[in-house]
Amino acid sequence: MLTVAKLIECVERHRATIWPVLDKIEYRPSGILPSEALIFCCLAQSQCVEEAIESGRRFGYSTDCFASVFPLGVVSVDSQSESHGDTDARLKKRHGSGVMLIKDDGAIRIPQLAACHAGHIAVLLDGPKGPAALDVVDKIIDKVVFAAIHDLSQRCETPGGSQPNASRAMARRLYPDVLFTDAPEITEAYGHLDERAWKGTYGSRSELTACGSTLGIFCGGHWRS
Ligand SMILES: C[S@@+](CC[C@H](N)C(=O)[O-])C[C@H]1O[C@@H](n2cnc3c(N)ncnc32)[C@H](O)[C@@H]1O
Repeated sequence: MLTVAKLIECVERHRATIWPVLDKIEYRPSGILPSEALIFCCLAQSQCVEEAIESGRRFGYSTDCFASVFPLGVVSVDSQSESHGDTDARLKKRHGSGVMLIKDDGAIRIPQLAACHAGHIAVLLDGPKGPAALDVVDKIIDKVVFAAIHDLSQRCETPGGSQPNASRAMARRLYPDVLFTDAPEITEAYGHLDERAWKGTYGSRSELTACGSTLGIFCGGHWRS
């Protein structure tokens, strides 16, 4: 089982090689947080995962991070890639065959990809989100080393303000061992790495993460304790 203490131990073991690579990558709007990219990549490295699969690319921050760190690169699915400017051309130019960019619905394509790459992959779901992402996790959990869903923050936005995030409660009910990256020990250790994601747009990191961000991490059938 992955605990907060084990996650921190794992990040500390791999941070010195991975962070210098991630630190050079330009942050892009609506990306996962740099600390989340670090955690995802360190967990993968500790499990000898060589390839990432993601659904939800938008301006390609996570894609760029994974392609820079994973030896076999990243397979990235997005249903709307044509509306994201020069993202795909930029990623292709920078990473060549290290990125496979697919236009499709991740809810359908990710389970197919997980079946083809069974046993060797870590998966990020950053679109679809919420219950639709949990449905994908249900389909792939036996085939992956781990999966992560973004935006399982404690609260989510509503038209009038915010409310407790029902998807987070559902994740915990379905997967009691799910680990959330907003655990205080984790944000204390790595939250300072996220300045580039909030500075200039938000007043503080917690303003940005109040109703968004936070990875839920689900250990899969190929996780080695
Ligand atoms: C928050 S952005 C992803 C940001 C990216 N992961 C990063 O770190 O830079 C969400 C993306 O998910 C895509 N998306 C939403 N629903 C999707 C689906 N069902 N299948 C594939 N992509 C989807 C949207 O088109 C959008 O580009």
